[in-house]
Amino acid sequence: MEALRPRIERIANDLLDAWETEDEVDVIDTFAYPLPITVICELLGVPEQDRADLRALSAALMVPETTAEAFGGLTTWTQHLVDTKEPGDDVITELRHEPNIVSTIVLLITAGHETTVQLIGSGLLALLRDPAMKRVLADNPILLPEAVDELLRYDGPFSLGLARTATTDVVIGGVTIPRSSSITVSLGAANRDPSRYPNPDALQLGRDPHVAFGHGIHYCVGARLARIEGEIAFETLLRRFPELVLADEPEWRVGFIRGLASFRVRPKP
Ligand code: HEM
Repeated sequence: MEALRPRIERIANDLLDAWETEDEVDVIDTFAYPLPITVICELLGVPEQDRADLRALSAALMVPETTAEAFGGLTTWTQHLVDTKEPGDDVITELRHEPNIVSTIVLLITAGHETTVQLIGSGLLALLRDPAMKRVLADNPILLPEAVDELLRYDGPFSLGLARTATTDVVIGGVTIPRSSSITVSLGAANRDPSRYPNPDALQLGRDPHVAFGHGIHYCVGARLARIEGEIAFETLLRRFPELVLADEPEWRVGFIRGLASFRVRPKP
Protein backbone atom coordinates (compact mmCIF):
# COMPACT_ATOMS: atom_id res chain seq x y z
CA MET A 1 0.00 0.00 0.00
CA GLU A 2 2.86 2.37 0.86
CA ALA A 3 4.25 1.85 -2.66
CA LEU A 4 1.04 3.43 -4.02
CA ARG A 5 1.69 6.74 -2.23
CA PRO A 6 3.49 8.59 -5.08
CA ARG A 7 0.85 7.56 -7.60
CA ILE A 8 -2.03 8.63 -5.30
CA GLU A 9 -0.28 12.00 -4.74
CA ARG A 10 -0.06 12.46 -8.48
CA ILE A 11 -3.76 11.66 -9.01
CA ALA A 12 -4.74 14.08 -6.20
CA ASN A 13 -2.60 16.87 -7.67
CA ASP A 14 -3.90 16.30 -11.20
CA LEU A 15 -7.50 16.54 -9.99
CA LEU A 16 -6.79 19.71 -8.01
CA ASP A 17 -5.08 21.39 -10.99
CA ALA A 18 -8.59 21.89 -12.36
CA TRP A 19 -9.56 23.86 -9.21
CA GLU A 20 -6.93 26.55 -9.89
CA THR A 21 -9.11 28.34 -12.41
CA GLU A 22 -12.53 27.78 -10.78
CA ASP A 23 -14.42 30.16 -8.47
CA GLU A 24 -16.53 27.37 -7.05
CA VAL A 25 -16.36 23.54 -7.25
CA ASP A 26 -18.25 20.49 -5.99
CA VAL A 27 -15.81 18.55 -3.78
CA ILE A 28 -17.65 15.25 -4.26
CA ASP A 29 -17.83 15.36 -8.07
CA THR A 30 -14.42 16.77 -8.78
CA PHE A 31 -12.20 15.29 -6.07
CA ALA A 32 -13.66 12.95 -3.43
CA TYR A 33 -15.31 10.72 -6.05
CA PRO A 34 -12.66 10.45 -8.78
CA LEU A 35 -9.66 10.02 -6.43
CA PRO A 36 -10.54 6.64 -4.85
CA ILE A 37 -12.16 5.25 -8.00
CA THR A 38 -9.01 5.98 -10.00
CA VAL A 39 -6.88 4.36 -7.29
CA ILE A 40 -9.02 1.23 -7.11
CA CYS A 41 -9.21 0.96 -10.93
CA GLU A 42 -5.42 1.14 -11.17
CA LEU A 43 -5.03 -1.40 -8.36
CA LEU A 44 -7.41 -3.83 -10.05
CA GLY A 45 -6.18 -3.09 -13.58
CA VAL A 46 -9.45 -1.71 -15.00
CA PRO A 47 -8.75 -0.27 -18.49
CA GLU A 48 -9.49 3.47 -18.95
CA GLN A 49 -12.40 2.86 -21.33
CA ASP A 50 -14.29 0.73 -18.76
CA ARG A 51 -14.02 3.17 -15.87
CA ALA A 52 -17.06 5.31 -16.72
CA ASP A 53 -19.29 2.19 -16.50
CA LEU A 54 -17.91 1.45 -13.06
CA ARG A 55 -18.59 4.97 -11.94
CA ALA A 56 -22.24 4.74 -13.07
CA LEU A 57 -22.73 1.35 -11.38
CA SER A 58 -21.11 2.55 -8.20
CA ALA A 59 -23.40 5.60 -8.06
CA ALA A 60 -26.49 3.41 -8.67
CA LEU A 61 -25.43 1.11 -5.81
CA MET A 62 -25.84 4.00 -3.37
CA VAL A 63 -29.47 4.73 -4.28
CA PRO A 64 -31.71 2.30 -2.32
CA GLU A 65 -34.20 1.89 -5.24
CA THR A 66 -31.46 0.81 -7.67
CA THR A 67 -29.06 -1.05 -5.33
CA ALA A 68 -30.17 -4.61 -6.20
CA GLU A 69 -30.10 -4.00 -9.96
CA ALA A 70 -26.73 -2.25 -9.76
CA PHE A 71 -25.28 -5.13 -7.74
CA GLY A 72 -26.27 -7.56 -10.53
CA GLY A 73 -24.81 -5.17 -13.12
CA LEU A 74 -21.56 -4.88 -11.19
CA THR A 75 -21.22 -8.67 -10.96
CA THR A 76 -21.74 -9.04 -14.75
CA TRP A 77 -19.32 -6.15 -15.43
CA THR A 78 -16.66 -7.73 -13.18
CA GLN A 79 -17.05 -11.18 -14.74
CA HIS A 80 -16.60 -9.63 -18.20
CA LEU A 81 -13.51 -7.74 -17.04
CA VAL A 82 -11.95 -10.88 -15.52
CA ASP A 83 -12.64 -12.85 -18.74
CA THR A 84 -11.33 -10.26 -21.20
CA LYS A 85 -8.65 -8.20 -19.48
CA GLU A 86 -5.05 -8.27 -20.74
CA PRO A 87 -2.70 -9.56 -18.01
CA GLY A 88 -0.76 -6.83 -16.18
CA ASP A 89 0.79 -5.89 -12.84
CA ASP A 90 -2.52 -5.74 -10.97
CA VAL A 91 -4.77 -7.53 -8.48
CA ILE A 92 -7.08 -9.13 -11.07
CA THR A 93 -4.13 -10.68 -12.93
CA GLU A 94 -2.71 -11.87 -9.61
CA LEU A 95 -5.98 -13.52 -8.54
CA ARG A 96 -7.36 -14.61 -11.92
CA HIS A 97 -7.20 -18.35 -11.15
CA GLU A 98 -8.90 -18.07 -7.76
CA PRO A 99 -12.41 -19.59 -7.69
CA ASN A 100 -14.05 -16.60 -5.92
CA ILE A 101 -12.38 -13.85 -7.88
CA VAL A 102 -15.58 -12.16 -9.11
CA SER A 103 -17.22 -11.92 -5.68
CA THR A 104 -13.90 -10.80 -4.16
CA ILE A 105 -13.52 -7.97 -6.68
CA VAL A 106 -17.17 -6.94 -6.24
CA LEU A 107 -16.61 -6.85 -2.46
CA LEU A 108 -13.47 -4.74 -2.84
CA ILE A 109 -15.31 -2.23 -5.02
CA THR A 110 -18.50 -2.04 -2.95
CA ALA A 111 -16.70 -1.93 0.42
CA GLY A 112 -13.82 0.22 -0.68
CA HIS A 113 -15.02 2.95 -2.96
CA GLU A 114 -17.94 4.94 -1.59
CA THR A 115 -16.56 4.71 1.96
CA THR A 116 -13.36 6.47 0.95
CA VAL A 117 -15.30 9.07 -1.06
CA GLN A 118 -17.16 9.95 2.09
CA LEU A 119 -14.07 9.96 4.32
CA ILE A 120 -12.76 12.73 2.06
CA GLY A 121 -16.13 14.54 1.76
CA SER A 122 -17.36 14.43 5.37
CA GLY A 123 -13.79 14.82 6.67
CA LEU A 124 -13.18 18.00 4.69
CA LEU A 125 -16.56 19.39 5.76
CA ALA A 126 -15.66 18.78 9.44
CA LEU A 127 -12.36 20.63 8.92
CA LEU A 128 -14.02 23.59 7.22
CA ARG A 129 -16.38 23.85 10.19
CA ASP A 130 -13.44 23.87 12.61
CA PRO A 131 -11.07 26.54 11.24
CA ALA A 132 -8.70 26.23 14.24
CA MET A 133 -8.16 22.52 13.54
CA LYS A 134 -7.84 23.23 9.82
CA ARG A 135 -5.10 25.77 10.56
CA VAL A 136 -3.25 23.38 12.92
CA LEU A 137 -3.22 20.69 10.23
CA ALA A 138 -2.26 23.05 7.39
CA ASP A 139 0.72 24.21 9.51
CA ASN A 140 1.62 20.71 10.79
CA PRO A 141 0.92 18.09 8.11
CA ILE A 142 2.80 15.57 10.26
CA LEU A 143 -0.39 15.43 12.37
CA LEU A 144 -2.52 14.30 9.42
CA PRO A 145 -2.38 10.53 10.09
CA GLU A 146 -3.81 11.19 13.56
CA ALA A 147 -6.33 13.65 12.13
CA VAL A 148 -7.64 11.12 9.59
CA ASP A 149 -8.47 8.77 12.45
CA GLU A 150 -10.17 11.54 14.39
CA LEU A 151 -12.23 12.48 11.30
CA LEU A 152 -13.26 8.83 10.94
CA ARG A 153 -14.31 8.72 14.59
CA TYR A 154 -16.15 12.03 14.29
CA ASP A 155 -18.16 11.19 11.17
CA GLY A 156 -17.27 7.81 9.68
CA PRO A 157 -19.03 6.58 6.52
CA PHE A 158 -20.19 3.29 8.08
CA SER A 159 -21.77 4.98 11.08
CA LEU A 160 -25.35 3.82 10.61
CA GLY A 161 -25.15 0.12 11.18
CA LEU A 162 -23.57 -3.28 10.75
CA ALA A 163 -25.90 -6.28 10.72
CA ARG A 164 -25.13 -9.07 13.16
CA THR A 165 -26.94 -12.09 14.67
CA ALA A 166 -26.43 -13.09 18.32
CA THR A 167 -25.02 -16.65 18.38
CA THR A 168 -25.67 -16.92 22.10
CA ASP A 169 -27.49 -14.94 24.84
CA VAL A 170 -25.38 -11.87 25.51
CA VAL A 171 -25.72 -9.10 28.11
CA ILE A 172 -24.70 -5.59 27.03
CA GLY A 173 -25.26 -2.57 29.26
CA GLY A 174 -27.58 -4.60 31.52
CA VAL A 175 -29.82 -5.69 28.59
CA THR A 176 -29.98 -9.34 27.52
CA ILE A 177 -29.90 -9.87 23.78
CA PRO A 178 -31.39 -13.34 23.22
CA ARG A 179 -29.66 -15.91 21.01
CA SER A 180 -30.64 -15.64 17.29
CA SER A 181 -31.72 -11.98 17.57
CA SER A 182 -30.83 -9.65 14.71
CA ILE A 183 -28.77 -6.71 15.88
CA THR A 184 -27.77 -3.46 14.24
CA VAL A 185 -24.51 -2.14 15.64
CA SER A 186 -24.09 1.61 15.27
CA LEU A 187 -20.41 2.40 14.85
CA GLY A 188 -21.28 6.10 14.82
CA ALA A 189 -22.88 5.90 18.29
CA ALA A 190 -19.91 3.91 19.64
CA ASN A 191 -17.52 6.50 18.20
CA ARG A 192 -19.35 9.30 20.04
CA ASP A 193 -19.64 7.45 23.37
CA PRO A 194 -18.95 10.20 25.96
CA SER A 195 -17.61 7.69 28.48
CA ARG A 196 -14.78 6.88 26.07
CA TYR A 197 -14.38 10.17 24.19
CA PRO A 198 -14.79 13.26 26.40
CA ASN A 199 -16.55 16.07 24.53
CA PRO A 200 -17.34 13.61 21.72
CA ASP A 201 -18.94 16.15 19.36
CA ALA A 202 -15.68 18.08 18.94
CA LEU A 203 -12.62 17.28 16.83
CA GLN A 204 -9.65 16.59 19.08
CA LEU A 205 -6.34 14.88 18.34
CA GLY A 206 -4.83 12.17 20.54
CA ARG A 207 -7.99 10.24 21.33
CA ASP A 208 -8.44 6.50 22.05
CA PRO A 209 -8.75 4.21 19.00
CA HIS A 210 -12.14 4.22 17.21
CA VAL A 211 -14.25 1.53 15.54
CA ALA A 212 -14.95 3.21 12.18
CA PHE A 213 -13.17 0.32 10.43
CA GLY A 214 -15.08 -2.28 12.48
CA HIS A 215 -13.58 -4.70 14.95
CA GLY A 216 -12.55 -8.35 15.12
CA ILE A 217 -12.39 -10.85 12.25
CA HIS A 218 -14.19 -8.59 9.77
CA TYR A 219 -11.97 -5.58 10.48
CA CYS A 220 -11.62 -3.59 7.26
CA VAL A 221 -8.95 -5.06 4.94
CA GLY A 222 -8.71 -1.70 3.17
CA ALA A 223 -8.01 0.37 6.31
CA ARG A 224 -4.37 1.02 5.38
CA LEU A 225 -5.26 2.12 1.85
CA ALA A 226 -8.14 4.31 3.06
CA ARG A 227 -5.89 6.01 5.63
CA ILE A 228 -3.22 6.70 2.99
CA GLU A 229 -5.81 8.13 0.58
CA GLY A 230 -7.27 10.30 3.36
CA GLU A 231 -3.86 11.62 4.42
CA ILE A 232 -2.90 12.47 0.84
CA ALA A 233 -6.29 14.03 0.05
CA PHE A 234 -6.23 16.37 3.08
CA GLU A 235 -2.51 17.15 2.77
CA THR A 236 -2.88 18.14 -0.89
CA LEU A 237 -6.08 20.13 -0.30
CA LEU A 238 -4.70 22.09 2.67
CA ARG A 239 -1.34 22.76 1.01
CA ARG A 240 -2.74 23.95 -2.29
CA PHE A 241 -5.90 25.68 -1.06
CA PRO A 242 -5.30 26.81 2.54
CA GLU A 243 -8.03 29.49 2.22
CA LEU A 244 -10.68 27.00 1.05
CA VAL A 245 -14.17 27.89 2.36
CA LEU A 246 -17.71 26.50 2.13
CA ALA A 247 -19.72 28.06 -0.71
CA ASP A 248 -23.10 26.64 0.20
CA GLU A 249 -24.90 24.45 2.75
CA PRO A 250 -23.87 20.87 1.78
CA GLU A 251 -26.51 18.32 0.81
CA TRP A 252 -26.58 14.98 2.68
CA ARG A 253 -27.69 11.82 0.92
CA VAL A 254 -30.05 9.14 2.24
CA GLY A 255 -28.55 5.66 2.05
CA PHE A 256 -26.67 2.82 3.64
CA ILE A 257 -23.36 4.68 3.70
CA ARG A 258 -23.57 8.09 5.35
CA GLY A 259 -22.31 10.82 3.10
CA LEU A 260 -22.71 13.97 1.08
CA ALA A 261 -24.47 14.18 -2.27
CA SER A 262 -22.98 17.55 -3.05
CA PHE A 263 -20.67 19.90 -1.27
CA ARG A 264 -19.63 23.17 -2.91
CA VAL A 265 -16.55 25.13 -1.88
CA ARG A 266 -14.61 28.20 -3.00
CA PRO A 267 -10.96 27.18 -3.51
CA LYS A 268 -9.65 30.76 -3.19
CA PRO A 269 -10.96 33.85 -1.39
C1 HEM B 1 -12.76 5.25 4.96
C2 HEM B 1 -12.88 4.16 4.26
C3 HEM B 1 -13.42 2.86 4.80
C4 HEM B 1 -14.23 2.61 5.89
C5 HEM B 1 -14.80 3.60 6.89
C6 HEM B 1 -14.43 1.17 5.92
C7 HEM B 1 -15.18 0.52 6.91
C8 HEM B 1 -15.30 -0.85 7.00
C9 HEM B 1 -15.99 -1.53 8.07
C10 HEM B 1 -16.70 -0.87 9.25
C11 HEM B 1 -15.89 -2.87 7.83
C12 HEM B 1 -16.43 -4.00 8.72
C13 HEM B 1 -17.73 -4.56 8.20
C14 HEM B 1 -18.31 -5.60 9.15
O1 HEM B 1 -17.81 -5.84 10.25
O2 HEM B 1 -19.32 -6.21 8.77
C15 HEM B 1 -15.15 -3.03 6.59
C16 HEM B 1 -14.88 -4.23 5.98
C17 HEM B 1 -14.27 -4.35 4.75
N1 HEM B 1 -13.66 -3.36 4.02
FE1 HEM B 1 -13.61 -1.40 4.50
N2 HEM B 1 -13.77 0.59 4.87
C18 HEM B 1 -13.13 1.58 4.16
C19 HEM B 1 -12.33 1.43 3.04
C20 HEM B 1 -12.08 0.23 2.41
C21 HEM B 1 -11.22 0.06 1.25
C22 HEM B 1 -10.45 1.18 0.56
C23 HEM B 1 -11.29 -1.26 0.90
C24 HEM B 1 -10.63 -2.02 -0.21
C25 HEM B 1 -9.87 -1.54 -1.13
C26 HEM B 1 -12.16 -1.93 1.88
C27 HEM B 1 -12.48 -3.26 1.86
C28 HEM B 1 -13.17 -3.91 2.87
C29 HEM B 1 -13.49 -5.32 2.84
C30 HEM B 1 -13.13 -6.30 1.72
C31 HEM B 1 -14.17 -5.61 4.02
C32 HEM B 1 -14.73 -6.94 4.48
C33 HEM B 1 -13.78 -7.61 5.43
C34 HEM B 1 -14.35 -8.90 6.00
O3 HEM B 1 -15.58 -9.10 6.02
O4 HEM B 1 -13.55 -9.71 6.47
N3 HEM B 1 -12.61 -0.99 2.77
N4 HEM B 1 -14.78 -1.78 6.11
